[in-house]
Amino acid sequence: MKARPLYKLRLLSTAFFLALFIFSYSQDEITGDGAKGYDLFQTNCTACHQIDGKLIGPELRGVVTRVKEDGGVGKEWLHSWIKDNKALRATGDAYANKIFEENGRQEMLAFPNLSDQDIDDILTYTTNPEAGQTAFEEAKKAKEAEAAAAKAAKNSGGGGASTGVVIVGFFVLAVILVWILFRLNALVKLTQAEELTSEDEAAAVSFSELMTKYDKLFKAGMALLVILALAGAWNFMLGIGVDKGYEPAQPIYFSHQVHAGVQGIDCQYCHSSAKYGKVSGIPSTNVCMNCHKTVKEYKGDYYEEHLVDNGMYASADEVKKFYTGEIQKMYQAIGWDPAANNFTGEQKPIEWVRIHNMPDFVYFSHQQHVVAGEKAILKAIADGTIPNSKELNLPDNSQVCFACHGDVTKMDELKMANQFTMGWCIECHRTTEVDMSNEYNSQYYAELHEKLKKQYGEGTKITVDAIGGLECGKCHY
Ligand code: HEC
Ligand code: HEC
Ligand code: HEC
Ligand code: HEC
Ligand code: HEC
Ligand code: HEC
Repeated sequence: MKARPLYKLRLLSTAFFLALFIFSYSQDEITGDGAKGYDLFQTNCTACHQIDGKLIGPELRGVVTRVKEDGGVGKEWLHSWIKDNKALRATGDAYANKIFEENGRQEMLAFPNLSDQDIDDILTYTTNPEAGQTAFEEAKKAKEAEAAAAKAAKNSGGGGASTGVVIVGFFVLAVILVWILFRLNALVKLTQAEELTSEDEAAAVSFSELMTKYDKLFKAGMALLVILALAGAWNFMLGIGVDKGYEPAQPIYFSHQVHAGVQGIDCQYCHSSAKYGKVSGIPSTNVCMNCHKTVKEYKGDYYEEHLVDNGMYASADEVKKFYTGEIQKMYQAIGWDPAANNFTGEQKPIEWVRIHNMPDFVYFSHQQHVVAGEKAILKAIADGTIPNSKELNLPDNSQVCFACHGDVTKMDELKMANQFTMGWCIECHRTTEVDMSNEYNSQYYAELHEKLKKQYGEGTKITVDAIGGLECGKCHY
């Protein structure tokens, strides 16, 4: 048995190397979620990278294999590079410095906010971009369907507190149905039985007794149901489509606070059609380029401190770099090469997510409110009589837009500030006094004004409802 120990040793060493191999392999293996990676890539990297083709940085399809083949580096290097490429270059890392030189010494942003798992997710996506994108889109679709179902359920229930009322209503209905079923059952038994046993007779009597006894209760139950149904229908009409607070993520992180607040750009510089018609419209990228041909980086003092407080970014400078990245995204969309100062001709229109959207059967005109109604609405803001006035808490120098959209100059991401329901429109029309001195109204409503003055005396307040602001046909086609 001399061979035995040798055999054991061999087995042991094979196992050892196998383990070492598996260990080193798994060290370098990247396991991530491609769908999450797609999302992270879209928000963090598309300013400078594409999957296919060079943008500001190199294309990222198959980058894991590429850095292995070209630079002999792996997962650990990629993590260090993405987290802080400058620090990596500073260590004298040969490959990092090589690609920096090769790309014209263009600085890549640092991403200290990305976790190891985030980076693995992104790298998984770049290894198989199609799979990642498909998985992301499928998950998104499923989520949207879920949200739509939840919203439909909320609307039909009238939302919040009234959902409880509906449940109670259904409970009452169920009790009544069960009771009717019992009664029918007894009646059927009665007619079917050729001869009533004394037991049946007793039961039948007690049921008819029950019915007379609980007749009032039954009627009250029915009345309650009818009232619930009517109240539900009315609430439904007044409150449908409530989306207050809706704040979707936009394809470019455009801050109203930076533009309309810090920079003080007039709302109508960008939303220029409000004065002239139904819609305010979203500015085209050409309008952005009036300024951004020269404003290429974010250098302002203002930044969102909460992004640092919540750990999204490490410092004020990182937040500002993020803003600069968003300006780069805009260049990419319009096909502008900021280094060469010319258009490349490759455009990808920015698809802003629409926030406010009235149903087709509603007629709303910005002109009516922003021009004819401006003075009246500004006075109502100052008097604190606009709907939701307390919560909106508008400043003294408010613009007319704020009455409905809130103080947009303090919103980084725009959100819906009011309910935008029929009940909301009507509330404001009931309480807002019309400005009879403006040219349009003094001509248009002269006769009506005289009549109202005669009827109620000089100095009566004429609110929008008095000039027809509650007529169905004014707001509905
Ligand atoms: C502000 C522009 C910018 C942003 C944003 C950016 N990069 Fe880069 N990236 C570059 C540039 C430029 C290079 C080329 C190296 C250099 O010049 O420093 C590069 C290189 C790389 C490389 C090395 C590629 C190779 O072929 O060796 C990887 C990997 C990389 N970036 C990943 C990312 C990821 C992941 C993100 C998003 C989290 C990202 N980058 C965001 C500009 C950017
Ligand atoms: C520099 C251009 C610019 C200025 C100035 C500006 N906006 Fe905007 N606004 C935009 C862009 C771009 C969007 C679309 C992206 C978004 O929703 O954030 C937008 C969206 C909106 C929306 C939502 C539109 C929707 O989808 O329903 C409202 C409301 C709005 N702006 C109101 C205002 C008000 C009020 C002011 C003035 C206090 C103002 N904006 C100033 C560019 C501007
Ligand atoms: C009386 C309330 C009211 C006032 C005042 C008002 N808006 Fe609006 N705004 C609305 C409503 C309602 C919508 C939704 C319209 C729709 O979906 O048809 C809207 C939609 C918008 C949109 C989305 C695009 C569009 O036109 O549908 C923008 C942008 C906008 N408003 C900007 C402004 C700006 C800028 C001002 C000030 C100059 C302003 N609004 C004043 C009620 C108002
Ligand atoms: C009237 C000039 C002007 C117009 C028009 C304008 N911007 Fe800006 N934008 C600026 C200035 C100024 C800054 C801040 C630069 C600074 O402080 O260093 C800025 C900053 C930004 C930033 C970084 C801060 C942030 O908001 O996230 C982005 C992104 C941006 N603009 C996108 C846009 C887009 C998109 C449009 C068109 C819808 C647009 N801008 C229109 C002047 C303008
Ligand atoms: C902040 C208050 C306010 C809100 C909210 C408001 N309105 Fe008005 N509305 C007015 C004022 C003030 C006038 C009168 C303008 C004038 O002097 O012609 C007016 C007038 C109108 C008129 C013309 C009435 C007529 O008899 O000629 C229509 C139509 C109208 N609003 C529709 C709407 C719709 C639809 C909504 C909701 C989406 C709405 N308004 C929300 C203040 C408001
Ligand atoms: C001041 C403007 C205004 C007036 C006046 C008005 N409505 Fe509306 N109505 C609206 C708006 C805005 C909506 C859409 C609300 C939404 O989408 O959240 C609406 C929605 C509706 C709906 C649909 C509710 C649903 O379930 O989708 C009905 C039905 C309706 N109105 C009936 C009427 C009738 C009947 C009158 C006359 C008594 C009337 N409206 C007067 C503004 C008005």
